[in-house]
Amino acid sequence: MPHPVPVLQLPEVYSPLVLSDETERVKALGTKFEKMYHHKPAFIARAPGRLNMIGEHIDTSGYSVFPMAIERDVLMAASYMPGPGDLRVVLANVASRFSHTSFSCDLTKPESLHLLTMTTHRWANYFMVALRGLLDDFPPEVRQNTHGVLHVLVDGTIPPESSLSSSAAMTTASSLVVIMAFGMHDCIDRKRLTEKATSSERLIGVSTGGMDQAASVFGEMGKALYVSFAPTLHTEPIQMPKWEEYLFLITNTLIKSDKKANAPTQYNLRVVELRIAAYLISRELGVQISSPSPFPSQLRAIADAYWEANPNELEEIMRVYEDVRMAYNDAGKEVAQLQAMLNIVEKFLPRRGLTREELEQLTGLSSEAFHHEFLSQVPVHASHFYPHHRAFHVYSEAQRVLRFRAICDTASKKLQSGEACDVHGAYVRLGHVMNESHESLRNMYDCSCPELDLIVHIGRQAGALGSRLTGAGWGGSAVHLVPRDRLEDVKTAMRNMYYSMRIGYMTENNLSEAMFVTDPTQGACYLSL
Ligand code: GLA
Repeated sequence: MPHPVPVLQLPEVYSPLVLSDETERVKALGTKFEKMYHHKPAFIARAPGRLNMIGEHIDTSGYSVFPMAIERDVLMAASYMPGPGDLRVVLANVASRFSHTSFSCDLTKPESLHLLTMTTHRWANYFMVALRGLLDDFPPEVRQNTHGVLHVLVDGTIPPESSLSSSAAMTTASSLVVIMAFGMHDCIDRKRLTEKATSSERLIGVSTGGMDQAASVFGEMGKALYVSFAPTLHTEPIQMPKWEEYLFLITNTLIKSDKKANAPTQYNLRVVELRIAAYLISRELGVQISSPSPFPSQLRAIADAYWEANPNELEEIMRVYEDVRMAYNDAGKEVAQLQAMLNIVEKFLPRRGLTREELEQLTGLSSEAFHHEFLSQVPVHASHFYPHHRAFHVYSEAQRVLRFRAICDTASKKLQSGEACDVHGAYVRLGHVMNESHESLRNMYDCSCPELDLIVHIGRQAGALGSRLTGAGWGGSAVHLVPRDRLEDVKTAMRNMYYSMRIGYMTENNLSEAMFVTDPTQGACYLSL
Protein backbone atom coordinates (compact mmCIF):
# COMPACT_ATOMS: atom_id res chain seq x y z
CA MET A 1 0.00 0.00 0.00
CA PRO A 2 1.52 3.36 -1.02
CA HIS A 3 0.71 5.58 1.96
CA PRO A 4 -0.25 3.81 5.17
CA VAL A 5 -0.75 5.86 8.32
CA PRO A 6 2.74 6.07 9.84
CA VAL A 7 3.87 4.83 13.26
CA LEU A 8 6.12 7.57 14.67
CA GLN A 9 8.37 8.47 17.58
CA LEU A 10 7.33 11.50 19.62
CA PRO A 11 10.13 13.80 18.30
CA GLU A 12 8.81 13.15 14.79
CA VAL A 13 5.42 14.43 15.87
CA TYR A 14 5.92 17.32 18.27
CA SER A 15 8.24 20.32 17.88
CA PRO A 16 11.11 20.71 20.40
CA LEU A 17 9.17 23.50 22.13
CA VAL A 18 6.33 21.24 23.24
CA LEU A 19 8.06 17.86 23.16
CA SER A 20 8.70 17.43 26.86
CA ASP A 21 5.13 18.42 27.87
CA GLU A 22 3.67 16.15 25.22
CA THR A 23 5.90 13.26 26.30
CA GLU A 24 4.54 13.64 29.84
CA ARG A 25 0.99 13.79 28.49
CA VAL A 26 1.42 10.60 26.47
CA LYS A 27 2.91 8.80 29.50
CA ALA A 28 0.07 10.02 31.72
CA LEU A 29 -2.47 8.79 29.18
CA GLY A 30 -0.92 5.29 29.25
CA THR A 31 -0.95 5.27 33.06
CA LYS A 32 -4.58 6.45 33.25
CA PHE A 33 -5.59 3.82 30.71
CA GLU A 34 -3.95 1.08 32.77
CA LYS A 35 -5.55 2.30 35.98
CA MET A 36 -8.97 2.47 34.37
CA TYR A 37 -8.97 -0.76 32.34
CA HIS A 38 -6.38 -2.83 34.28
CA HIS A 39 -4.15 -3.48 31.31
CA LYS A 40 -1.82 -1.46 29.12
CA PRO A 41 -3.04 0.14 25.88
CA ALA A 42 -2.05 -1.76 22.75
CA PHE A 43 -1.48 1.48 20.81
CA ILE A 44 -2.09 5.23 20.84
CA ALA A 45 -3.59 7.01 17.83
CA ARG A 46 -3.15 10.72 17.24
CA ALA A 47 -5.06 13.16 15.02
CA PRO A 48 -4.38 16.92 15.08
CA GLY A 49 -6.73 19.88 14.70
CA ARG A 50 -6.24 22.35 11.88
CA LEU A 51 -5.88 26.01 11.25
CA ASN A 52 -7.04 27.29 7.88
CA MET A 53 -4.86 30.06 6.42
CA ILE A 54 -7.14 30.77 3.45
CA GLY A 55 -9.98 29.12 1.54
CA GLU A 56 -13.06 29.15 3.75
CA HIS A 57 -16.32 27.40 2.92
CA ILE A 58 -15.16 26.40 -0.54
CA ASP A 59 -14.14 22.79 0.05
CA THR A 60 -17.87 21.99 -0.03
CA SER A 61 -17.83 23.22 -3.65
CA GLY A 62 -14.67 21.33 -4.58
CA TYR A 63 -12.23 24.26 -4.58
CA SER A 64 -8.71 24.05 -3.14
CA VAL A 65 -7.89 25.26 0.36
CA PHE A 66 -4.71 26.08 2.28
CA PRO A 67 -4.75 24.86 5.89
CA MET A 68 -2.15 23.30 8.20
CA ALA A 69 -2.31 20.74 10.97
CA ILE A 70 -1.71 22.22 14.44
CA GLU A 71 -0.07 20.90 17.58
CA ARG A 72 -3.36 20.70 19.49
CA ASP A 73 -4.67 17.21 18.94
CA VAL A 74 -6.73 14.22 20.01
CA LEU A 75 -4.96 11.17 21.40
CA MET A 76 -6.74 7.87 21.80
CA ALA A 77 -5.17 5.03 23.74
CA ALA A 78 -6.86 1.74 22.89
CA SER A 79 -6.87 -2.02 23.14
CA TYR A 80 -9.09 -4.68 21.64
CA MET A 81 -9.75 -7.98 23.38
CA PRO A 82 -11.61 -10.56 21.30
CA GLY A 83 -14.33 -12.41 23.18
CA PRO A 84 -17.82 -13.87 22.77
CA GLY A 85 -21.04 -11.98 21.96
CA ASP A 86 -21.41 -8.58 20.30
CA LEU A 87 -18.68 -5.99 20.07
CA ARG A 88 -18.69 -3.69 23.11
CA VAL A 89 -16.99 -0.32 22.74
CA VAL A 90 -16.06 1.33 26.04
CA LEU A 91 -15.16 5.00 25.76
CA ALA A 92 -13.73 7.26 28.44
CA ASN A 93 -12.33 10.76 28.25
CA VAL A 94 -9.73 12.28 30.57
CA ALA A 95 -11.83 15.49 30.59
CA SER A 96 -14.50 14.99 33.23
CA ARG A 97 -17.16 16.97 31.30
CA PHE A 98 -17.39 14.06 28.84
CA SER A 99 -19.02 11.15 30.69
CA HIS A 100 -17.78 7.61 30.25
CA THR A 101 -20.00 5.65 27.95
CA SER A 102 -20.25 2.37 26.10
CA PHE A 103 -22.29 0.81 23.35
CA SER A 104 -22.69 -2.66 21.89
CA CYS A 105 -23.13 -3.53 18.26
CA ASP A 106 -23.15 -6.35 15.77
CA LEU A 107 -20.84 -5.43 12.92
CA THR A 108 -22.80 -7.53 10.45
CA LYS A 109 -25.75 -5.20 11.13
CA PRO A 110 -24.79 -1.55 10.55
CA GLU A 111 -28.24 -0.52 11.77
CA SER A 112 -27.23 -1.69 15.27
CA LEU A 113 -25.02 1.42 15.38
CA HIS A 114 -27.28 4.35 16.18
CA LEU A 115 -26.36 7.76 17.48
CA LEU A 116 -26.33 8.31 21.26
CA THR A 117 -28.78 10.98 22.35
CA MET A 118 -27.87 11.73 25.99
CA THR A 119 -26.15 15.15 26.01
CA THR A 120 -23.18 14.09 28.12
CA HIS A 121 -22.60 10.99 25.95
CA ARG A 122 -22.93 12.64 22.56
CA TRP A 123 -19.20 13.21 22.24
CA ALA A 124 -18.92 9.45 21.71
CA ASN A 125 -20.95 9.70 18.50
CA TYR A 126 -17.78 10.65 16.63
CA PHE A 127 -16.47 7.20 17.43
CA MET A 128 -19.78 5.62 16.51
CA VAL A 129 -19.89 7.23 13.05
CA ALA A 130 -16.23 6.42 12.39
CA LEU A 131 -16.92 2.75 13.08
CA ARG A 132 -20.08 2.79 11.03
CA GLY A 133 -18.39 4.61 8.15
CA LEU A 134 -15.57 2.08 7.97
CA LEU A 135 -17.82 -0.99 7.99
CA ASP A 136 -18.05 -1.03 4.18
CA ASP A 137 -14.28 -1.41 4.03
CA PHE A 138 -14.22 -4.40 6.38
CA PRO A 139 -13.86 -7.76 4.62
CA PRO A 140 -16.94 -9.90 5.46
CA GLU A 141 -14.90 -12.26 7.67
CA VAL A 142 -13.66 -9.33 9.81
CA ARG A 143 -17.23 -8.11 10.29
CA GLN A 144 -18.37 -11.58 11.26
CA ASN A 145 -15.51 -12.31 13.62
CA THR A 146 -15.20 -9.04 15.49
CA HIS A 147 -16.60 -9.66 18.99
CA GLY A 148 -15.32 -8.77 22.44
CA VAL A 149 -14.36 -5.44 23.98
CA LEU A 150 -12.65 -2.38 22.57
CA HIS A 151 -11.37 -0.09 25.33
CA VAL A 152 -10.60 3.52 24.45
CA LEU A 153 -9.35 6.46 26.50
CA VAL A 154 -9.41 9.89 24.85
CA ASP A 155 -7.32 12.94 25.64
CA GLY A 156 -7.91 16.07 23.55
CA THR A 157 -6.22 19.48 23.66
CA ILE A 158 -8.20 21.24 20.91
CA PRO A 159 -10.65 23.62 22.55
CA PRO A 160 -14.10 22.28 21.57
CA GLU A 161 -16.32 24.48 19.37
CA SER A 162 -13.38 26.78 18.63
CA SER A 163 -13.32 26.23 14.81
CA LEU A 164 -10.04 24.37 15.06
CA SER A 165 -11.56 21.06 14.02
CA SER A 166 -11.85 19.16 17.25
CA SER A 167 -14.66 17.19 15.61
CA ALA A 168 -12.59 16.16 12.57
CA ALA A 169 -9.73 15.20 14.89
CA MET A 170 -12.15 13.08 16.94
CA THR A 171 -13.52 11.33 13.86
CA THR A 172 -10.06 10.82 12.38
CA ALA A 173 -8.56 9.49 15.62
CA SER A 174 -11.57 7.19 16.05
CA SER A 175 -11.09 5.89 12.50
CA LEU A 176 -7.43 5.24 13.31
CA VAL A 177 -8.42 3.22 16.37
CA VAL A 178 -10.92 1.13 14.42
CA ILE A 179 -8.43 0.52 11.61
CA MET A 180 -5.61 -0.62 13.93
CA ALA A 181 -7.74 -2.53 16.43
CA PHE A 182 -9.38 -4.70 13.79
CA GLY A 183 -6.29 -5.40 11.74
CA MET A 184 -7.03 -3.06 8.80
CA HIS A 185 -3.85 -1.01 8.96
CA ASP A 186 -2.47 -2.51 5.79
CA CYS A 187 -5.69 -2.09 3.79
CA ILE A 188 -6.67 1.53 4.38
CA ASP A 189 -4.24 4.21 3.26
CA ARG A 190 -4.23 7.88 4.20
CA LYS A 191 -6.34 8.97 1.26
CA ARG A 192 -9.02 6.42 2.03
CA LEU A 193 -8.84 7.34 5.71
CA THR A 194 -9.47 11.00 4.82
CA GLU A 195 -12.42 10.17 2.57
CA LYS A 196 -13.85 7.87 5.21
CA ALA A 197 -13.40 10.32 8.08
CA THR A 198 -15.14 12.99 5.97
CA SER A 199 -18.11 10.88 4.97
CA SER A 200 -18.40 9.46 8.50
CA GLU A 201 -18.57 12.93 9.99
CA ARG A 202 -21.44 13.73 7.64
CA LEU A 203 -23.41 10.98 9.44
CA ILE A 204 -23.44 13.30 12.47
CA GLY A 205 -25.54 15.68 10.37
CA VAL A 206 -23.13 18.31 8.99
CA SER A 207 -22.47 18.44 5.23
CA THR A 208 -18.77 19.08 5.84
CA GLY A 209 -16.34 19.49 2.95
CA GLY A 210 -13.20 17.47 3.73
CA MET A 211 -10.61 20.15 4.43
CA ASP A 212 -10.38 19.43 8.16
CA GLN A 213 -9.91 15.72 7.73
CA ALA A 214 -7.34 16.21 4.93
CA ALA A 215 -5.31 18.57 7.10
CA SER A 216 -5.58 16.25 10.09
CA VAL A 217 -4.38 13.26 8.08
CA PHE A 218 -1.78 14.76 5.72
CA GLY A 219 -0.26 17.57 7.82
CA GLU A 220 3.54 17.78 7.85
CA MET A 221 5.79 19.25 10.48
CA GLY A 222 6.84 22.81 9.59
CA LYS A 223 4.69 22.95 6.46
CA ALA A 224 1.32 24.25 5.36
CA LEU A 225 -0.82 22.01 3.20
CA TYR A 226 -2.34 22.84 -0.16
CA VAL A 227 -5.38 20.62 -0.50
CA SER A 228 -7.14 20.03 -3.82
CA PHE A 229 -10.30 17.99 -4.15
CA ALA A 230 -10.76 17.78 -7.90
CA PRO A 231 -10.45 15.55 -9.81
CA THR A 232 -9.54 13.61 -6.63
CA LEU A 233 -8.08 14.45 -3.24
CA HIS A 234 -4.50 15.63 -3.53
CA THR A 235 -2.34 17.28 -0.87
CA GLU A 236 0.89 19.16 -1.27
CA PRO A 237 3.03 20.23 1.71
CA ILE A 238 4.20 23.82 1.25
CA GLN A 239 7.18 25.41 2.94
CA MET A 240 6.24 29.07 3.46
CA PRO A 241 9.01 31.56 2.64
CA LYS A 242 11.14 32.55 5.66
CA TRP A 243 8.45 31.28 7.98
CA GLU A 244 10.65 31.67 11.02
CA GLU A 245 10.05 35.44 10.86
CA TYR A 246 6.25 35.26 10.67
CA LEU A 247 3.65 33.55 12.82
CA PHE A 248 0.03 32.58 12.80
CA LEU A 249 -1.58 33.62 16.06
CA ILE A 250 -4.87 31.97 16.94
CA THR A 251 -7.35 33.89 19.09
CA ASN A 252 -10.51 32.20 20.26
CA THR A 253 -13.48 34.54 20.66
CA LEU A 254 -14.81 32.11 23.30
CA ILE A 255 -18.13 32.22 21.45
CA LYS A 256 -18.94 28.59 20.88
CA SER A 257 -19.24 27.63 17.24
CA ASP A 258 -21.36 24.47 17.33
CA LYS A 259 -21.52 23.29 13.72
CA LYS A 260 -23.75 20.38 14.52
CA ALA A 261 -26.37 22.08 16.72
CA ASN A 262 -26.69 25.10 14.44
CA ALA A 263 -26.37 23.27 11.12
CA PRO A 264 -29.97 23.96 9.94
CA THR A 265 -29.54 27.74 10.15
CA GLN A 266 -25.82 27.99 9.49
CA TYR A 267 -23.43 25.46 7.93
CA ASN A 268 -25.95 23.21 6.16
CA LEU A 269 -28.16 26.13 5.17
CA ARG A 270 -25.19 27.68 3.37
CA VAL A 271 -24.54 24.43 1.52
CA VAL A 272 -28.18 24.36 0.42
CA GLU A 273 -27.96 28.00 -0.74
CA LEU A 274 -24.89 27.04 -2.77
CA ARG A 275 -26.75 24.14 -4.34
CA ILE A 276 -29.55 26.49 -5.31
CA ALA A 277 -27.00 28.91 -6.78
CA ALA A 278 -25.38 26.10 -8.77
CA TYR A 279 -28.78 25.03 -10.08
CA LEU A 280 -29.68 28.54 -11.20
CA ILE A 281 -26.31 29.14 -12.84
CA SER A 282 -26.40 25.81 -14.65
CA ARG A 283 -29.85 26.67 -16.04
CA GLU A 284 -28.66 30.03 -17.29
CA LEU A 285 -25.53 28.56 -18.89
CA GLY A 286 -27.25 25.47 -20.21
CA VAL A 287 -24.68 23.25 -18.51
CA GLN A 288 -25.32 19.64 -17.57
CA ILE A 289 -23.09 17.70 -15.21
CA SER A 290 -22.67 14.20 -16.51
CA SER A 291 -21.71 12.31 -13.35
CA PRO A 292 -22.95 13.19 -9.87
CA SER A 293 -20.50 15.55 -8.16
CA PRO A 294 -18.94 14.19 -4.96
CA PHE A 295 -19.28 17.59 -3.27
CA PRO A 296 -22.23 18.84 -1.27
CA SER A 297 -22.41 21.85 -3.64
CA GLN A 298 -21.79 21.76 -7.38
CA LEU A 299 -20.46 25.25 -8.03
CA ARG A 300 -17.11 23.97 -9.25
CA ALA A 301 -18.56 21.12 -11.27
CA ILE A 302 -20.79 23.64 -13.10
CA ALA A 303 -17.90 25.98 -13.82
CA ASP A 304 -15.62 23.16 -15.00
CA ALA A 305 -18.34 21.72 -17.23
CA TYR A 306 -18.98 25.15 -18.74
CA TRP A 307 -15.32 25.75 -19.66
CA GLU A 308 -14.97 22.25 -21.00
CA ALA A 309 -18.01 22.61 -23.22
CA ASN A 310 -16.91 26.09 -24.39
CA PRO A 311 -13.13 25.98 -24.84
CA ASN A 312 -12.95 29.33 -26.70
CA GLU A 313 -15.34 31.18 -24.46
CA LEU A 314 -12.73 32.70 -22.15
CA GLU A 315 -11.00 34.41 -25.09
CA GLU A 316 -14.32 35.84 -26.21
CA ILE A 317 -15.18 37.03 -22.72
CA MET A 318 -11.78 38.66 -22.31
CA ARG A 319 -12.39 40.72 -25.43
CA VAL A 320 -15.46 42.24 -23.80
CA TYR A 321 -14.76 42.24 -20.07
CA GLU A 322 -11.73 44.13 -18.90
CA ASP A 323 -11.80 42.72 -15.36
CA VAL A 324 -11.50 39.18 -16.75
CA ARG A 325 -8.65 40.22 -19.06
CA MET A 326 -6.87 41.90 -16.17
CA ALA A 327 -7.33 38.85 -13.95
CA TYR A 328 -5.81 36.74 -16.73
CA ASN A 329 -2.80 39.00 -17.17
CA ASP A 330 -2.32 39.29 -13.43
CA ALA A 331 -2.89 35.79 -12.24
CA GLY A 332 -3.54 33.41 -15.12
CA LYS A 333 -6.32 31.36 -16.62
CA GLU A 334 -7.93 29.84 -13.54
CA VAL A 335 -8.30 33.18 -11.78
CA ALA A 336 -9.70 34.69 -14.99
CA GLN A 337 -12.23 31.88 -15.32
CA LEU A 338 -13.33 32.49 -11.75
CA GLN A 339 -13.65 36.20 -12.52
CA ALA A 340 -15.92 35.32 -15.41
CA MET A 341 -17.99 33.15 -13.06
CA LEU A 342 -18.29 36.11 -10.70
CA ASN A 343 -19.65 38.20 -13.57
CA ILE A 344 -22.16 35.45 -14.34
CA VAL A 345 -23.26 35.41 -10.69
CA GLU A 346 -23.68 39.21 -10.81
CA LYS A 347 -25.63 39.05 -14.04
CA PHE A 348 -28.03 36.20 -13.34
CA LEU A 349 -28.61 35.94 -9.60
CA PRO A 350 -30.66 38.59 -7.80
CA ARG A 351 -28.57 40.45 -5.21
CA ARG A 352 -31.02 39.93 -2.36
CA GLY A 353 -32.65 37.34 -0.16
CA LEU A 354 -35.24 35.24 -1.98
CA THR A 355 -38.23 33.48 -0.52
CA ARG A 356 -38.97 29.88 -1.32
CA GLU A 357 -41.83 30.94 -3.60
CA GLU A 358 -39.51 33.26 -5.52
CA LEU A 359 -36.97 30.49 -5.84
CA GLU A 360 -39.54 28.02 -7.11
CA GLN A 361 -40.36 30.51 -9.83
CA LEU A 362 -36.74 31.17 -10.70
CA THR A 363 -35.79 27.50 -10.78
CA GLY A 364 -38.96 26.54 -12.57
CA LEU A 365 -39.51 23.74 -10.05
CA SER A 366 -42.78 22.77 -8.41
CA SER A 367 -42.92 22.94 -4.63
CA GLU A 368 -42.43 19.15 -4.36
CA ALA A 369 -39.59 19.12 -6.87
CA PHE A 370 -37.90 22.04 -5.05
CA HIS A 371 -38.22 20.22 -1.75
CA HIS A 372 -36.82 17.04 -3.25
CA GLU A 373 -33.91 18.81 -4.95
CA PHE A 374 -32.78 21.08 -2.12
CA LEU A 375 -34.53 20.49 1.17
CA SER A 376 -34.93 16.76 1.55
CA GLN A 377 -31.33 15.77 2.36
CA VAL A 378 -30.64 17.84 5.48
CA PRO A 379 -33.08 19.92 7.52
CA VAL A 380 -32.64 23.69 7.10
CA HIS A 381 -34.63 26.67 8.36
CA ALA A 382 -34.73 30.02 6.56
CA SER A 383 -37.32 32.55 5.42
CA HIS A 384 -34.92 33.90 2.75
CA PHE A 385 -32.12 32.31 0.75
CA TYR A 386 -29.11 34.21 -0.66
CA PRO A 387 -27.71 32.26 -3.62
CA HIS A 388 -26.02 35.33 -5.11
CA HIS A 389 -24.02 36.22 -1.99
CA ARG A 390 -22.98 32.66 -1.20
CA ALA A 391 -21.84 31.90 -4.76
CA PHE A 392 -20.04 35.23 -4.97
CA HIS A 393 -18.11 34.33 -1.84
CA VAL A 394 -17.18 30.90 -3.16
CA TYR A 395 -15.84 32.01 -6.55
CA SER A 396 -13.98 34.98 -5.07
CA GLU A 397 -12.50 32.94 -2.21
CA ALA A 398 -11.32 30.33 -4.72
CA GLN A 399 -9.48 33.18 -6.48
CA ARG A 400 -7.94 34.30 -3.19
CA VAL A 401 -6.56 30.83 -2.55
CA LEU A 402 -4.88 30.85 -5.97
CA ARG A 403 -3.48 34.33 -5.38
CA PHE A 404 -2.23 33.40 -1.91
CA ARG A 405 -0.52 30.34 -3.30
CA ALA A 406 1.05 32.31 -6.16
CA ILE A 407 2.51 34.88 -3.74
CA CYS A 408 4.05 32.09 -1.63
CA ASP A 409 5.43 30.28 -4.68
CA THR A 410 6.97 33.37 -6.23
CA ALA A 411 8.72 34.37 -3.01
CA SER A 412 9.94 30.83 -2.33
CA LYS A 413 11.30 30.45 -5.86
CA LYS A 414 13.18 33.73 -5.67
CA LEU A 415 14.66 32.81 -2.29
CA GLN A 416 15.74 29.42 -3.57
CA SER A 417 17.43 30.80 -6.65
CA GLY A 418 19.14 33.53 -4.62
CA GLU A 419 17.25 36.30 -6.46
CA ALA A 420 16.40 39.49 -4.57
CA CYS A 421 13.07 38.98 -2.81
CA ASP A 422 10.96 41.38 -0.79
CA VAL A 423 9.74 38.77 1.68
CA HIS A 424 8.02 41.30 3.89
CA GLY A 425 6.20 42.73 0.88
CA ALA A 426 5.03 39.21 0.06
CA TYR A 427 3.66 38.73 3.59
CA VAL A 428 1.95 42.12 3.42
CA ARG A 429 0.18 40.93 0.26
CA LEU A 430 -0.75 37.63 1.92
CA GLY A 431 -2.20 39.64 4.79
CA HIS A 432 -4.34 41.68 2.37
CA VAL A 433 -5.71 38.52 0.85
CA MET A 434 -6.61 37.25 4.33
CA ASN A 435 -8.36 40.53 5.13
CA GLU A 436 -10.37 40.34 1.91
CA SER A 437 -11.35 36.81 2.84
CA HIS A 438 -12.74 37.98 6.16
CA GLU A 439 -14.75 40.79 4.52
CA SER A 440 -16.27 38.31 2.10
CA LEU A 441 -17.07 35.82 4.87
CA ARG A 442 -18.73 38.59 6.84
CA ASN A 443 -20.61 40.37 4.07
CA MET A 444 -21.32 37.64 1.55
CA TYR A 445 -21.24 34.34 3.41
CA ASP A 446 -22.64 35.89 6.58
CA CYS A 447 -20.76 33.58 8.92
CA SER A 448 -18.93 36.08 11.11
CA CYS A 449 -20.20 37.52 14.40
CA PRO A 450 -19.54 40.79 16.29
CA GLU A 451 -16.88 39.15 18.47
CA LEU A 452 -14.97 37.78 15.46
CA ASP A 453 -15.16 41.17 13.74
CA LEU A 454 -13.88 42.87 16.87
CA ILE A 455 -10.99 40.47 17.39
CA VAL A 456 -10.04 40.76 13.71
CA HIS A 457 -10.10 44.56 14.00
CA ILE A 458 -7.93 44.52 17.14
CA GLY A 459 -5.43 42.21 15.45
CA ARG A 460 -5.06 44.43 12.38
CA GLN A 461 -4.75 47.62 14.44
CA ALA A 462 -2.09 46.09 16.68
CA GLY A 463 0.24 44.96 13.89
CA ALA A 464 -1.12 41.82 12.26
CA LEU A 465 -0.58 41.91 8.49
CA GLY A 466 -3.83 40.04 8.00
CA SER A 467 -6.61 38.77 10.26
CA ARG A 468 -9.62 36.66 9.45
CA LEU A 469 -11.99 34.17 10.96
CA THR A 470 -10.79 30.61 10.49
CA GLY A 471 -12.94 27.51 10.11
CA ALA A 472 -16.71 27.58 9.93
CA GLY A 473 -17.19 30.93 11.75
CA TRP A 474 -20.29 32.00 13.69
CA GLY A 475 -17.95 32.19 16.69
CA GLY A 476 -14.82 30.16 17.26
CA SER A 477 -11.38 31.50 16.39
CA ALA A 478 -9.66 34.08 14.24
CA VAL A 479 -6.17 33.73 12.78
CA HIS A 480 -3.68 36.59 12.52
CA LEU A 481 -0.59 36.69 10.33
CA VAL A 482 1.95 38.48 12.52
CA PRO A 483 5.61 39.40 12.02
CA ARG A 484 7.49 37.78 14.90
CA ASP A 485 8.61 41.15 16.26
CA ARG A 486 4.99 42.35 16.54
CA LEU A 487 3.67 39.29 18.35
CA GLU A 488 3.78 40.78 21.84
CA ASP A 489 2.00 43.95 20.63
CA VAL A 490 -0.83 41.94 19.16
CA LYS A 491 -1.13 39.70 22.21
CA THR A 492 -1.15 42.68 24.57
CA ALA A 493 -3.85 44.40 22.54
CA MET A 494 -5.94 41.21 22.58
CA ARG A 495 -5.50 40.86 26.31
CA ASN A 496 -6.44 44.49 27.05
CA MET A 497 -9.09 45.08 24.45
CA TYR A 498 -10.83 41.74 24.17
CA TYR A 499 -10.13 39.18 26.84
CA SER A 500 -10.04 41.46 29.90
CA MET A 501 -13.30 43.16 28.84
CA ARG A 502 -15.01 39.89 28.14
CA ILE A 503 -14.08 37.81 31.09
CA GLY A 504 -13.15 40.55 33.52
CA TYR A 505 -10.25 38.54 34.76
CA MET A 506 -8.44 35.69 33.05
CA THR A 507 -5.61 33.64 34.48
CA GLU A 508 -2.50 33.23 32.32
CA ASN A 509 -3.51 29.62 31.95
CA ASN A 510 -6.96 30.47 30.60
CA LEU A 511 -5.42 33.03 28.35
CA SER A 512 -2.94 30.62 26.83
CA GLU A 513 -5.87 28.33 26.04
CA ALA A 514 -7.65 31.15 24.24
CA MET A 515 -4.71 32.74 22.43
CA PHE A 516 -1.74 30.80 21.13
CA VAL A 517 0.78 30.41 18.38
CA THR A 518 1.17 26.98 16.87
CA ASP A 519 3.74 25.40 14.61
CA PRO A 520 2.47 23.36 11.68
CA THR A 521 2.60 19.76 12.73
CA GLN A 522 2.61 16.17 11.61
CA GLY A 523 -0.74 14.69 10.61
CA ALA A 524 -2.47 11.55 11.82
CA CYS A 525 -0.26 8.75 13.09
CA TYR A 526 0.19 6.06 15.67
CA LEU A 527 2.66 6.85 18.43
CA SER A 528 5.37 4.33 18.89
CA LEU A 529 5.08 3.19 22.54
C1 GLA B 1 -15.79 23.40 8.73
C2 GLA B 1 -15.95 22.22 7.77
C3 GLA B 1 -14.93 22.31 6.64
C4 GLA B 1 -14.95 23.67 5.97
C5 GLA B 1 -14.89 24.78 7.02
C6 GLA B 1 -15.07 26.15 6.42
O1 GLA B 1 -14.59 23.32 9.40
O2 GLA B 1 -15.80 21.00 8.45
O3 GLA B 1 -15.18 21.27 5.71
O4 GLA B 1 -16.07 23.81 5.16
O5 GLA B 1 -15.86 24.62 8.02
O6 GLA B 1 -14.06 26.42 5.51
